Amino acid sequence: MNEAERNELIQSALEAQKRAYCPFSNFPVGAALRAASGRIYQGVNVENVSFGLTNCAERVAVGAAIAAGEREFTAIAVVSRGGVSPCGACRQVLAEFNPNLPIVMVDSQKPSEGHHATLDRLLPSRFEGLK
Ligand code: THU
Repeated sequence: MNEAERNELIQSALEAQKRAYCPFSNFPVGAALRAASGRIYQGVNVENVSFGLTNCAERVAVGAAIAAGEREFTAIAVVSRGGVSPCGACRQVLAEFNPNLPIVMVDSQKPSEGHHATLDRLLPSRFEGLK
């Protein structure tokens, strides 16, 4: 991912974050997932009054991309206050499609300072099904 692609992905996640539905946590999260096609799919957290039904931004982005016919992903940017790391459930869902996915975690208050990781580092020894 070059600098321009990285910036475009971060901008997309920042824009998505404004549309998060998070009246219970007041913690908006925006995700932007780039597919091998070059297209970007956005996600936001979608909360529910029955709190456990909440969907994270990362999994919403995966759902949008898969529903559009994508299967291969090259990077994801996740924007939140503090630049948090994706939760365990989202890591497992992302790893289904690319266990080495590059992840850019961005603090919405300091968008120029993205923190980088790869999914294999965040989720070693993931569940891969019966062998
Ligand atoms: N959340 C995400 O959308 N992605 C993450 O990686 C961590 C947490 C959401 C879920 C919930 O709506 C809010 O952040 C607080 O946990």
